[in-house]
Amino acid sequence: MNILLIGSGGREHALAWKLAQSPLIGAFYAAPGNPGIAEHAELVDINIDDHAAVIAFCKANAVDFVVVGPEAPLVAGLSDALRAVGLTVFGPSAAAAQLEGSKGFTKDVCARFNIPTGAYQRFNNAPKAKAYVRQQGAPIVIKADGLAAGKGVTVAMTLDEALSAIDDCFEGAFGAAGAEVVVEAFLDGEEASFFCLCDGKTLLPLATAQDHKRVGDGDTGPNTGGMGAYSPAPVMTPDMVERTLREIIEPTMRGMAELGRPFSGVFFAGLMITEKGPELIEYNVRFGDPECQVLMMRLKSDLLPLLHACASGTLDKVSAEWHDDPALTVVLASKGYPGSFTRNTQIAAVPAASDEAKVFHAGTAVKDGQLIATGGRVLNATARGKTVAEAQAKAYALARQVEWDNGFSRSDIGWQAIAREKPSES
Ligand code: AMP
Ligand code: GLY
Repeated sequence: MNILLIGSGGREHALAWKLAQSPLIGAFYAAPGNPGIAEHAELVDINIDDHAAVIAFCKANAVDFVVVGPEAPLVAGLSDALRAVGLTVFGPSAAAAQLEGSKGFTKDVCARFNIPTGAYQRFNNAPKAKAYVRQQGAPIVIKADGLAAGKGVTVAMTLDEALSAIDDCFEGAFGAAGAEVVVEAFLDGEEASFFCLCDGKTLLPLATAQDHKRVGDGDTGPNTGGMGAYSPAPVMTPDMVERTLREIIEPTMRGMAELGRPFSGVFFAGLMITEKGPELIEYNVRFGDPECQVLMMRLKSDLLPLLHACASGTLDKVSAEWHDDPALTVVLASKGYPGSFTRNTQIAAVPAASDEAKVFHAGTAVKDGQLIATGGRVLNATARGKTVAEAQAKAYALARQVEWDNGFSRSDIGWQAIAREKPSES
């Protein structure tokens, strides 16, 4: 099978690494890819926003299957364009990708199909949003409706914070994404992520994960795209997974079909495990980054038949096997991230991989034969171990072998899970 992978992040490097191990793979292309992905696939220089160019490439190179990594091309309708010319595509239609593309849309789906989530209201102007927030009081959550690269959410602990977050949205801080605002009740509990393939009528649960969004040790400092993650999430007991499937994912699958927007792809449910049980914080319609890196490190099965079955409506014919052992990934970022940082700094060495430990590339490029860091989040040192503590030790050992003067990482990824592993002292 000839494959084109769309994307250029650590998530796509992890997908490429697993796909390349499949005995079913023929020619393997990635657009635009990155130097890590180039170990496994031929990088092709096509503009993925230009759907006609992607189609032309697929035709010219006898591509059978396209795997779309990031959300932006999905929301922009790349899957629809490719399917319209008969290609098999992993990734939802634009209509189904609204589950990530519009937070208000998702909240309406939850309300209509009785899916547990925080109470909410949608607003298209500041005065009404502010009146509602004053009436509800803090803590309260303000969200720009559209895609805002993970930055459109303010968890406001005071009324003043909430009011100024509303002004930010309507004054254009998140561009078009902030033209509508969702105000949502604050949910208290422990967060976890749940990943599940869906072909429109069948679900294949994958795995759970937890990430670290803050830049600093002890989960302090500003939010980032994610500084590390581990899988599984200890809070997602078999009972919680079962409830999540029954109360959240299945009704979403049925509801989306009923709305004429059948969902095909991966449900990435951001959950708050509250006293009442699992509640939906948000949906993403693609794998998480860096959560995908730990999922791929734990997946025993061949990834290719799973994604292909998902894309072709035969998920009921496949199953996935997992390593029980946990996996953990540490993000190496450019010093200064998530604020301003120097680009194009040299990375002198990246250690070799094994079955249980690998550095995935996110924001890297090769210039004049030299590997350089081009982004904020640059490399993901990822490892599997018998315990989270062991996976953590291996991931940090790998990270220390990266020779990059301008890089930094948190030193405590996985701390909550490791605290739970320690025998109680009482
Ligand atoms: P999102 O971009 O929707 O994932 O939101 C970013 C982060 O904001 C989440 O991972 C949560 O930590 C937090 N958050 C979002 N919605 C809520 C909520 N209703 N209650 C508490 N925290 C929330
Ligand atoms: N790590 C969070 C995300 O991929 O959205």
